[in-house]
Amino acid sequence: MIVVTGATGTLNGATVEHLLRRLPADRIGVSARDVAKAQHFAERGVRVRPGSYDDPVALRDSFAGADQVLLVSANDPAADVVGQHRTAIEAAAAAGARRILYTSQHGAVGSAYPPAAIHAATEEILAGSGVAWTSLRYGFFGSLDQLLGPWRQTGVIAKPADGPIPWTDRADLAEAAAVILAGDRAFDGPVTLSAPAATLDDFAEAASELTGRTVERVVVEDEQWVTEQIANGTPEFVARLTLTMFQAARSGYFAGHNPLLAELLGREPRSAAEQLAS
Ligand SMILES: NC(=O)c1ccc[n+]([C@@H]2O[C@H](COP(=O)([O-])OP(=O)(O)OC[C@H]3O[C@@H](n4cnc5c(N)ncnc54)[C@H](OP(=O)(O)O)[C@@H]3O)[C@@H](O)[C@H]2O)c1
Repeated sequence: MIVVTGATGTLNGATVEHLLRRLPADRIGVSARDVAKAQHFAERGVRVRPGSYDDPVALRDSFAGADQVLLVSANDPAADVVGQHRTAIEAAAAAGARRILYTSQHGAVGSAYPPAAIHAATEEILAGSGVAWTSLRYGFFGSLDQLLGPWRQTGVIAKPADGPIPWTDRADLAEAAAVILAGDRAFDGPVTLSAPAATLDDFAEAASELTGRTVERVVVEDEQWVTEQIANGTPEFVARLTLTMFQAARSGYFAGHNPLLAELLGREPRSAAEQLAS
């Protein structure tokens, strides 16, 4: 059996959908904080049990009988997220899982992007768990509107100086995870899954082609950008954290290309331009 956490969310919910296309439902389990949110999976024959990273006993029960456990990275900025991941890893090991998989991030170890430290610490716990592990180091995903700002209204992408970022379609990542989970090939340790990196210049070009009007890329000085974000209601620590992403990108930290995602999908991952168009 494969048990998945975070299946009530977008990423691992899509992974379970892909698993259902590949495996009988009775070989799939979901561990959910709120089982009502996973009712649609239960109705299709998936085993749904309660499990929260704050409740080791329930977690262990939700992992019982699992050959593989896929752990989502938790996302509560106020919580001890690494401690939560440790609890989940220990529960999976205690439940007898043969392999633990975890949704990590591109370039997690030694990253120039400070939030990645959570993933580096979690990979260290996995490495010491005594269980085979796979860290799915995903490219960046999320809202392109948030990344690019109100370019549709303004015709301008006004952000700090950047560099290449492997902006990757979350649906492609979810599909690749299902291919790994359902397949025979063993992936040990960190595995980078990302689309070719794109810069904000590339996005401006794609936006221009998409709309037939010129969308301009304007570089805003770092401190001016932070001041503007705060004036627009963004908490300063969030603005400064986001700034570190642009700074890491401009240092070239996220550059480079890994062909594994295309290999697993059997096609090219959706490009930045395709993601913008969809
Ligand atoms: N690589 C990137 O660029 C990037 C970007 C954004 C996010 N992320 C990470 O990727 C993860 C998945 O993304 P997503 O889009 O699927 O996010 P999402 O839609 O917010 O889903 C998060 C999932 O994690 C579950 N969860 C959170 N904390 C938990 C805990 N303490 N115990 C058990 N389950 C917990 C949530 O359960 P509930 O339904 O009960 O809330 C939900 O199912 C995020 O949590 C975040 O860590 C990475």
